[in-house]
Amino acid sequence: MSDQLIIFDTTLRDGEQSPGASMTRDEKLRIARQLERLKVDVIEAGFAAASNGDFESIQTIARAIKDSTVCSLSRANDRDIARAAESLKGANRARIHTFIATSALHMEKKLRMTPEQVLEQAKQAVRFGRNLIEDIEFSAEDGYRSEPDFLARVIEAVIKEGATTINVPDTVGYAIPELYGEFIRNLRERVPNSDKAVWSVHCHNDLGMAVANSLAGVKIGGARQIECTINGLGERAGNCSLEEVVMAIKTRKDYFGLDVNIDTQHIVAASRLVSQTTGFVVQPNKAVVGANAFAHASGIHQDGVLKARDTYEIMRAEDVGWAANKIVLGKLSGRNAFKQRLQELGVELDSEAAINQAFTRFKELADRKSEIFDEDILALVNAEGAEH
Ligand code: KIV
Ligand code: ZN
Repeated sequence: MSDQLIIFDTTLRDGEQSPGASMTRDEKLRIARQLERLKVDVIEAGFAAASNGDFESIQTIARAIKDSTVCSLSRANDRDIARAAESLKGANRARIHTFIATSALHMEKKLRMTPEQVLEQAKQAVRFGRNLIEDIEFSAEDGYRSEPDFLARVIEAVIKEGATTINVPDTVGYAIPELYGEFIRNLRERVPNSDKAVWSVHCHNDLGMAVANSLAGVKIGGARQIECTINGLGERAGNCSLEEVVMAIKTRKDYFGLDVNIDTQHIVAASRLVSQTTGFVVQPNKAVVGANAFAHASGIHQDGVLKARDTYEIMRAEDVGWAANKIVLGKLSGRNAFKQRLQELGVELDSEAAINQAFTRFKELADRKSEIFDEDILALVNAEGAEH
């Protein structure tokens, strides 16, 4: 089995399904270019049959993007699939992603179809798509809540029809990591032609486990594609977040033993771009891309990081595109961090006693003010009559 993991970004499709996150064609193109810079393997650019605007956005992206595969979503019917293929004309590498729900609940209550009808429609969709484009992904919507025997039959059949990627979504974010991983593994074992396709995970974050579930799908289940979005943007509580899942694979290569193509130095810029475009603020304590993700406030941590960064940092801020890590001066800071900041500001105090005195004044100020800025420190030492 390959040790290369395919990163499939769906910020422009599932991400845009987040209420209030709709984007214009130009905004989508800007994000697609940033995703290409990031070296994302597949960019899902939209749902061609959903609207003319979506169709045009996909068409624009398909023509502009050269290095990533551009993908268009479609329901499992000929009209949608033809529209998806049309939107991808001119792409260097194109993929059609067709889906139909396979859970009893969705088939009965939403589609009002029998399992046999769903099976036939899935086969027909893949057969039709395969005549237009070679790279065909099939998704079993609500796959995780589907009856495994039936799902295995559908997957075996669509692989026979030529599906090259099989995606098993946890559409409603109901999965638990171990159970989802085992679900994928059992399916792969049950489907006789399973090795003819790449298996993919697509997890929603309703219980806050989208990243953990995706990783379990890879580690336990043997999936080799992860579907994710920048900042975890997406329907309801969002999708698996690209920055988190990628940095987990990279930082814990000792455990996963897998590689991703992603150029991680572009992660923060991608996060900022998506946040500014959609107006969705990134919470400060968000892993990897939150403003505090590499900030140290406690004196003990600051002292440790100043001596050796890996005492409290498992990855480097610079590796994901931050200029540097951050020592936040406040009431918890120690003398060491304060002294270091004086040096960075070019402040020279002539004795240890003078530093101690300035540090005492700094602590008094920090008790009144939650964050101390460089200007505060300069004002404080100037008042002490220091030269700098
Ligand atoms: O969550 C989901 O099931 C989806 C499919 C369309 C892949 O987004
Ligand atoms: Zn989804």
